[in-house]
Amino acid sequence: MQIRPATPNDAPAMSAMLEALIAAGKRTNPGDLDYTMANYVNRPDGILCSVAVEEDGSVLGLQSLSRAIEGNPYRTPEGWGIIGTHVAPTAARRGVGSQLFEASKQAALADGIENIEAFINMRNVEGQAYYESMGFRTYRVDGEAICKCYRVVRPLV
Ligand SMILES: CC(C)(COP(=O)(O)OP(=O)(O)OC[C@H]1O[C@@H](n2cnc3c(N)ncnc32)[C@H](O)[C@@H]1OP(=O)(O)O)[C@@H](O)C(=O)NCCC(=O)NCCS
Repeated sequence: MQIRPATPNDAPAMSAMLEALIAAGKRTNPGDLDYTMANYVNRPDGILCSVAVEEDGSVLGLQSLSRAIEGNPYRTPEGWGIIGTHVAPTAARRGVGSQLFEASKQAALADGIENIEAFINMRNVEGQAYYESMGFRTYRVDGEAICKCYRVVRPLV
């Protein structure tokens, strides 16, 4: 498995992975090709969208890090990072999400992001457990969402 920035060529495999999550009842947003291109590959406020890719080109997971702009739908404070993580149901609990977060942390540091917010449905127990395990902590509740924040720590050197 390789972790690298997503390219337009990855979009069909990313879309297939998102559709598999929908079929498994683990995703409510769309997963079609247009949505994948607009929201992950070519996101205007995007900082980094990483993919975890198998040798055959299949996508095991993706993680999107974007910059919160004024009026964003999550009500995330402006200038913070916003993160989303999606791992194929068949690849869950194999460290894919953890490896993707290493890439996002580096991108946040390089981009001067100090806080990253994850917006998770309160019924999504695995999503909450994953972000807690990555070091995110609950700092507000927004309707049905638990909002967790990760403080990006700059190395001391
Ligand atoms: C949540 C999700 C991103 C986790 O990805 P993953 O690749 O399975 O995560 P990892 O294997 O790197 O797990 C890292 C840690 O997170 C926690 N974790 C992950 N899945 C968990 C689960 N189902 N139950 C409890 N803890 C879990 C564990 O602490 C785990 O460490 P461990 O396996 O050593 O105990 C993945 O299950 C997913 O895409 N779910 C559907 C979409 C979603 O809910 N996204 C998050 C909200 S946007």
